[in-house]
Amino acid sequence: MTVVTYRIENNLGIISLNNPPVNALSHVLREGIVNAVQAAQSDDTQALILVCEGRTFIAGADITEFNKTPQAPSLPDVIETIENSQKPVIAAIHGTALGGGLETALACHYRCALASAKVGLPEVKLGLLPGAGGTQRAPRLTGAEAALDLITSGAPISADKALKLNLIDQIVEGELLSGAIAYAEQLLADKAPLKRVRDIAIDPASVPADLFEQYRKKLSKRARGQIAPQKIVDCVEAAVLHPIEEGLLIERGAFMECKESSQSSAMRHMFFAEREAAKVKGIGKETATRPIKSVGIIGGGTMGGGIAMNFVNVGIPVTLLEVSEEGLQRGLNLVEKNYSISVKKGKLTEAQKSDCLALIKGSTNYDDLADVDMVIEAVFENLDVKRSVFEQLDKVCKPGAILATNTSYQDVNLIAEATQRPQDVIGLHFFSPANVMKLLEIVRGAKTADDVIATSMALAKKIKKVPVLANVCYGFIGNRMLRPYGREAQLCLLEGGTPEQIDRVMQNWGMAMGPLAVGDLAGLDIGYKAREGQTEEQKGAPKTYCVADALVEMDRLGQKSGAGYYLYDPETRARINDPKVLTLVEEHAKAQGVERRYISDEEILKRLTYAWINEGAKILEEGIAQRSSDIDVVYVFGYGFPAYRGGPMHYADTIGLQEVYRSISELHEQTGESYWKPAALLETLAKENTNFQEWSARS
Ligand code: 3HC
Ligand code: NAI
Repeated sequence: MTVVTYRIENNLGIISLNNPPVNALSHVLREGIVNAVQAAQSDDTQALILVCEGRTFIAGADITEFNKTPQAPSLPDVIETIENSQKPVIAAIHGTALGGGLETALACHYRCALASAKVGLPEVKLGLLPGAGGTQRAPRLTGAEAALDLITSGAPISADKALKLNLIDQIVEGELLSGAIAYAEQLLADKAPLKRVRDIAIDPASVPADLFEQYRKKLSKRARGQIAPQKIVDCVEAAVLHPIEEGLLIERGAFMECKESSQSSAMRHMFFAEREAAKVKGIGKETATRPIKSVGIIGGGTMGGGIAMNFVNVGIPVTLLEVSEEGLQRGLNLVEKNYSISVKKGKLTEAQKSDCLALIKGSTNYDDLADVDMVIEAVFENLDVKRSVFEQLDKVCKPGAILATNTSYQDVNLIAEATQRPQDVIGLHFFSPANVMKLLEIVRGAKTADDVIATSMALAKKIKKVPVLANVCYGFIGNRMLRPYGREAQLCLLEGGTPEQIDRVMQNWGMAMGPLAVGDLAGLDIGYKAREGQTEEQKGAPKTYCVADALVEMDRLGQKSGAGYYLYDPETRARINDPKVLTLVEEHAKAQGVERRYISDEEILKRLTYAWINEGAKILEEGIAQRSSDIDVVYVFGYGFPAYRGGPMHYADTIGLQEVYRSISELHEQTGESYWKPAALLETLAKENTNFQEWSARS
């Protein structure tokens, strides 16, 4: 396939790129662009148009090449060739001009775009910064502050906004190439000059004196622990203070440093992991999906309302079913309140809010679910209650309707058995708050039909979730791994830690919140109630939950009651350490025969993270997850795991499995606890000196 073609139309040279699926700037594309621009210098064209075939303009550098030896011409070489062209080069943009794609466009002398196009510099999401002049050219067009917003957020902006920010010069109506040709002819007729962005100087006096310091401070909170965002500020500051040649050198150095960092390696891993997770082994793209044009949701509690919002947000009508009018009103009010908050924050207009609410119909009658294409059950976490709901659904729902459960722990097969159509039953495990959290665990029952899985995967993308397939086990992937993590947090507390120390260690390491603070946020009564329904064996040793139970029995349920592991300021909800909790911990340690000792931050970190890894390895060897990177996706998108550490399994691979195996064996020996026995898969891979990623690729 020819990826770069050059043709002459009248007095214009058209350089057309075709490197599916997203026109990433792989070596052959870079080479083709350079050759075409150079050749065009000596023909009798007067201007060049750079346009892309397929679904998008260039979506950036080819991320798969970052781990390989670089091949000339580099992207900066391409950029220089374009910018130095003696004939104006006009970028014609459709789809998304991202990263190196936008940088290529910024090297052109003029840029036009379809109104539907988006542009952005998303490198920060890969732990990188724009490395081909983006940090130098964007601020020359937009001003320093807008460039900082664009580059540190990584969020794409609309063509309209890009026009306002001077990133593009013209919006084209109708067909892109004819519009671009008309624009080029107009520029030639106007004798428009060769506009090189590099020639624009930024007046340092136009930039507020404390802009960069303020930005650094802001980012140290918003992007805690990350290298790239701070370096972006350095580069944009260089664009203001130095000539472009120096700025480009500073940018190049910072880019290379980021590219070599473990943070970027982890974030690139996550980029591909997210896309891989949507692929189900044995279920090809050709699998027909069932149309989902309406959805029923049962239970309008914490989860049901949020789940409903996902569907109405993309125009799919929802019937929300509750046991009583009162319960229904409570659920609908909660949804209304959530939308009102979005309106207040300026994320939604009143009209959009009304449109969404109009798509939700309340009901207390199962007959109203007779025609829906899918039902998602989100009632109490109790197997009998869920089975009776599914029996009812089996009676009223039309044939082919997908019947899903949002259960956190229950056996999807036992729920499916309550119906005569287990092939239509699946787990769709949303996370709280369901309208915000990106993860969707899709739980495949023993009899779930392939097209039900394919439909759920496609639907997840439609409602902007990140789906991961899991097989049935207690807690599936995410919650199953949470148990040993929680167990170690409890044990570290009893053995010598404080809530503040344990949470600080995990938060400083990069978790969105520490485990005990998360317990307070979710409500300690949830775990308490779950334990009430468990056998002693399921609950585990009392020392792994006695403090948590004691807090609930003291009515300290967490944030909602103003106290849990911490006290909470009623106004600000700020956490306050409470000496009473420490006394409680000391009493329980004594009662459990645990001698409190000094416990180091390193020990806490190791025990909590290695508990995840060992359970993750068991999940892999049992075939509960399809591949190790799926577990990483679950933890990054569902549990606040830092993307720049790449998820627990990637983290383990980074440490090296021999070291992880050695440490877990040591913990097993020291504690004598069977749960610290290294997973068989971990032992095998450590002995083979390989890793989870390689094992997943070959299994
Ligand atoms: N390099 C290599 N492969 C890429 C890629 C890239 N930049 N962008 C996308 N792909 C691949 C995906 O892995 C996927 O492959 P698969 O089908 O085998 O799974 C395929 O292209 C399609 O991608 P999506 O499933 O994401 O397609 P969507 O239509 O949903 O989204 C997109 C398209 C918005 C372009 C999205 O793919 C995207 O955001 N891509 C990354 C953009 C980016 O980060 N660019 C910056 C790169 S770094 C850079 O440019 C450095 C420079 O400053 C020097
Ligand atoms: P909840 O207790 O807040 O809400 C449950 C709702 O279901 C109540 O409003 C109740 O009136 C209603 N209900 C009960 N039986 C019903 C029936 N037969 N028909 C119709 N409505 C009925 O519970 P929550 O937290 O929303 O949990 C629901 C499900 O989601 C559970 O299975 C839970 O494990 C799961 N889940 C909960 C998460 C959370 O953080 N709360 C996270 C992920 C999953």
